[in-house]
Amino acid sequence: MNEVQSPATGGTAQEPASAMADLERIQHLEERYLLQTYGRIPILLERGKGPYVFDSNGKRYLDFITGIGVNVLGYAHPRILKVMREQSARLIHSSNLYYNPYQGPLAQRLAQLSGMERAFFCNSGTEALEAALKLARLFGREQNAEKFEIVALDNSFHGRTYGALSVTGQPKYRDPYSPVLPGVRFVAPGDRDALTAAVGPQTCAILLEPIQGEGGVYELDAAYLAHAAQLAHQHNAALIFDEIQCGLGRTGKYFAYQWTSVVPDMVVTAKPIANGLPLGCLLARGAVANGFRPGLHGTTFGGGPLTCRVALEVLDTIEQDRLLENVQQMGAQIREGLMNLRSKFRNIRALRGRGAMWGIDLDGPAKPVVDAARELGLLANATHETVVRLLPPYILSPEQVDQGLRLLTRALKRV
Ligand SMILES: Cc1ncc(COP(=O)(O)O)c(C=O)c1O
Repeated sequence: MNEVQSPATGGTAQEPASAMADLERIQHLEERYLLQTYGRIPILLERGKGPYVFDSNGKRYLDFITGIGVNVLGYAHPRILKVMREQSARLIHSSNLYYNPYQGPLAQRLAQLSGMERAFFCNSGTEALEAALKLARLFGREQNAEKFEIVALDNSFHGRTYGALSVTGQPKYRDPYSPVLPGVRFVAPGDRDALTAAVGPQTCAILLEPIQGEGGVYELDAAYLAHAAQLAHQHNAALIFDEIQCGLGRTGKYFAYQWTSVVPDMVVTAKPIANGLPLGCLLARGAVANGFRPGLHGTTFGGGPLTCRVALEVLDTIEQDRLLENVQQMGAQIREGLMNLRSKFRNIRALRGRGAMWGIDLDGPAKPVVDAARELGLLANATHETVVRLLPPYILSPEQVDQGLRLLTRALKRV
């Protein structure tokens, strides 16, 4: 394929004519041969550099959604490329039959960062959640056979496998697959009395996202988290935090609960941990962490040498480049910019978020704004119908944050 320099974008790009044909060809193949699980946006992404990603026409986008909260160090980060090259030449996969040099060190590192004690590695968020549900059930069962209920929140999202789906508090995802896992109770987020009423001797776990992501970026306050912790303690149930979206630096601390004094018994993390390679992790502490014995849970791929080494490099980079501080500064700048937008655009009814996780709640559908932003060169996404969600990378400079805010302003103006 011919490559040309695109003056408009400053990057190398394929010839537009052939690129168009490529998009059409790929669309045709997917329509014909893929099970139809996705409604895709009609651009073909080919490569990325830093916070920018380029499509097959050479058009450049500032990426404020990062593969749904994954590519936090941006694209083609030199440190990540270097360890990927080195490690893939040495050993990509070895299975959990044997030791590898990186799984233990990564578990130690994550335990230190989270206040947890033990880790289980898998390949995605939903799998990490499955592991947490299984461990919670073991924890309950050890106490008594009737202690198997899980209390979860309305409007939550925990993943697509059956267990994770069963504890997801949105009927649109759950109902088509019913009957789902029994023993799950849902309560309204933030309602302390409802939580108190739902939790009892039969509860083995309380599960929540400290900031609901897919549900529209809703943060639970510290007092509610403390109440959940107190109830879990009182009933000897496990408190599980799903930080797959809001964790690992996204709020400017390694874990969102670290803004409060609450420490859960288990936390699940995934998306950004290996900057794009599939890796999920369950972290647990205390009595609940002793539930698994060899043979009770496992995976072929999880915790392989390549993904774990890359994850260690991601964590080193976050630390050495002081990216948590950067996320906090970005957060302050984004907050100010969005408040400014709110004073200008009457269709913005609420702003929610912190750090590198924001929801702009509109009084109409979010999709037209997201579409306009994309046309202008900014990637964001629409969640929960009315919310424009921003999950930018942790590496943005103040100028790039400004650039994003300017593009967003123009998109709002257009709509
Ligand atoms: C809070 C939360 N939990 C779980 C998941 C599922 O993760 P995955 O898509 O990696 O299975 C997601 C994905 O968006 C999420 O945001």
